[in-house]
Amino acid sequence: KNTENQMLVIFGASGDLTARKLVPALFNLYLDKQLPENFIVLGASRTNMTDAEFRNKVVLESSYLQEKFKDLKEDHKATFANRFFYEDLGGDYDTDYYTLKKRIEALNDAEGTEGNIMYYLSTPPTLYETIAKNLAAAGLNTQNNGWKRMIVEKPFGYDLETAKKLNKGLQNYFKESQIYRIDHYLGKETVQNLLVTRFANSIFEPLWNRNYINHVEITNAESVGVEKRGGYYDSSGALRDMFQNHLLQIVSLIVMEPPIGDHPEEIRNEKVKALKSLRIMKDDKTIHDHTIRAQYMGSNIDGKSIKGYREEDGVAKDSLTETYAAIKFFVDNWRWKDVPFYVRTAKRMPTKVTEVVIHFKSPHHQIFQDSGMQSKDNKLIIRIQPDEGILVKFGVKVPGQGFKVERANLDFYYSSLAETHVMEAYERLLLDAMQGDATLYARADEVEAAWEFVNPILDYWKNGTDVRMYGYASGVWGPVNADELIDGIGMWRNPGPN
Ligand code: BG6
Repeated sequence: KNTENQMLVIFGASGDLTARKLVPALFNLYLDKQLPENFIVLGASRTNMTDAEFRNKVVLESSYLQEKFKDLKEDHKATFANRFFYEDLGGDYDTDYYTLKKRIEALNDAEGTEGNIMYYLSTPPTLYETIAKNLAAAGLNTQNNGWKRMIVEKPFGYDLETAKKLNKGLQNYFKESQIYRIDHYLGKETVQNLLVTRFANSIFEPLWNRNYINHVEITNAESVGVEKRGGYYDSSGALRDMFQNHLLQIVSLIVMEPPIGDHPEEIRNEKVKALKSLRIMKDDKTIHDHTIRAQYMGSNIDGKSIKGYREEDGVAKDSLTETYAAIKFFVDNWRWKDVPFYVRTAKRMPTKVTEVVIHFKSPHHQIFQDSGMQSKDNKLIIRIQPDEGILVKFGVKVPGQGFKVERANLDFYYSSLAETHVMEAYERLLLDAMQGDATLYARADEVEAAWEFVNPILDYWKNGTDVRMYGYASGVWGPVNADELIDGIGMWRNPGPN
C-alpha cells in the first residue's frame, strides 16, 4: 500500500505515550523504510519546549530507544530526530490555534508534506472534543488541500452516555471516515490471526457454532499491579480499562459472521453486528449471578512484599474499583444460542497471559468406556500472548492393548514463522492509519455497542444492592468464588505449560 507524504501532529506530545509507544513505533517504521519520504512529527502540548529539547526528550535521550540505537550510526539517529518539531500551545488546549496553524503551514511548505495531516490525540480524554473544535475553527479539518485524519486514544468514553457524547462531539468537526479510534489489541498479530484462522481455513468454521462448541473461555491476566497509574485506574477499573475495549474486540472477532470481503467496512459491519447480539443483562439478579469482581490484596511473593490495591498510590483507602472482573454471558443469534462465554481480566495474577479457549462438545456417543478422557476435552487454544500460537488438544490411542485414550497436542508457535521483524501493535496501527486503512480501528457504532453491553454491569456494581467485592491474594488466579461462575462446566483453565 502507498503511504503518502504527511505530517503527524501529536497533541499531548510531552506525555508518556509519545516517548514510550509512538516514537519507538515510528523509529521501527523508519528503520523498516516504511515512512514516506517527506514525513515529520510536530509535537504539541502545554509544556514549554524548543524543537531541540523535544528531540532530545523523545528521541535522542529517550530510554525507550537506547537499546535500538546501540548498533546504529550517529547520522541515523540525527536523520530521524531531525524529523521532529515542537509547538508550545501556550498553557491551554482550549485556545486559538492560529499560531499552531501558521506553524503547520510553514512546516508543510518547508518539508513537502502535501497538506496531509494526521492528528494524534494523546491528551486526557476530556480534551478530545475541545481539540477537534479548535482545529475546525482554525480550518485545520478541511480536506481540500490534502487529507486530515484523527487518531483518538483510549479511554473512549467513561460509559455509554459519555461515549455517545464524545462521538457526536468529534463528528461535529470531523467525518466518521476521518476518525480512527485506537485499540492496541487489534494491532496484535494473534488478534488479527483470529480472522485468518476462521476465514482462511475450512476445517474450523464448520465447527464454529452451537452444535459443536460447548463454551468459550477468554483469560486476560497481568502479573503487574496498577503501577504508577493508581489515580487513573481507580476511576476506571478492569471492566472499563480492559473488558469494554480490548476483550470485547476479541469477542467480536470470535463471534462475528464471515464478512463478504476484507474491506474495512465489511469487517467492521460484522463486528458491530456481533457486539449487538451480546445478550444485555437487564436485571440485577442476572448481573449478580453472572459477574464477579474483586481486588488484589497484599501478599508476599518470593520474599518480596506486594502492596494490596487499596494501598497503592492514588487509590482510595475504601476503593470499590475492581482489579479483577469475570463475566458470563450469552450471544443471542443463530450461531451462538445458549453457548456460554466466560471472560475474565485481572491484574496481579501469577503470570501475564492472554488466551482464548474454544471448548468443544464431547462426541455424541462415547464408545471407549475406558477412554480416560474427560468429556469436552477437545480444545482449540489461541494464545494471544505470550508464546503466540495455536494449540489443538485431541485424543489419541495409547499404544498397547485395549483402547485407552490420552490427550495429545498439536501445537503451533507463531515465532517459527517470524523470520522477519514482527511489527508491534502501535507500529502496525500507525502505519495502517497513515495509509488510510481503518480495518483495525473501532468505529463509532462499535464502541457504542460495546458500552451498551457493559453499562448495566457498571450501573449495578455502582448502585445495586448486594453487590459483592471479593479479595484475592496477589499472585493467585483470582478469588475462589470465580469458579462458581463457571460451575457445572468445570474450572477456569489456568494457563500454564499446556
Ligand atoms: C492498557 C490498559 O490498555 O492495556 C493497561 O490500560 C493494561 O491497564 C494494558 O496494562 C495491557 O496491554 P498489553 O498489550 O500489555 O496486554
